[in-house]
Amino acid sequence: MIMWSEKYRIGIDIIDYQHRQLFNLINRLSKGKTENQIEVLKELVEYVKFHFSAEEKIMKKLIYPNYISHKNQHENFKKKILRFLMKYKRGNLSMLEIQSYIEDWISNHILYEDMKIGKFLSGKEIQNFSRSLFLLSFFFP
Ligand SMILES: [Fe+2]
Repeated sequence: MIMWSEKYRIGIDIIDYQHRQLFNLINRLSKGKTENQIEVLKELVEYVKFHFSAEEKIMKKLIYPNYISHKNQHENFKKKILRFLMKYKRGNLSMLEIQSYIEDWISNHILYEDMKIGKFLSGKEIQNFSRSLFLLSFFFP
């Protein structure tokens, strides 16, 4: 079980919303029959792809300095959960093990990596704001 709390808010509404959706999917993973669990895991793979690409677009727009390393983490995680899906189908891994790995990864990734994007954006906004004030001061001394 992974519960949303304020500590996960990075301050970019669309991303915060998607993270909540991710948490909901993760919590559904170990419920129901095996066939359903496979379906939920597939749904999670698709949502993760969609969500990562949204984050990557935002990072590109912001000219975020850690873009490459952040994107690499996304790529590795996507590969990892696809491997989990195969192992689960073969019966080599339990859904609880998969769920607990995904919970840990997502939680750490949001708190340490995604959080930096939020901070970078708020720093940028302040810079732009003071830059406008600086420019205005020439016209209205
Ligand atoms: Fe991310």
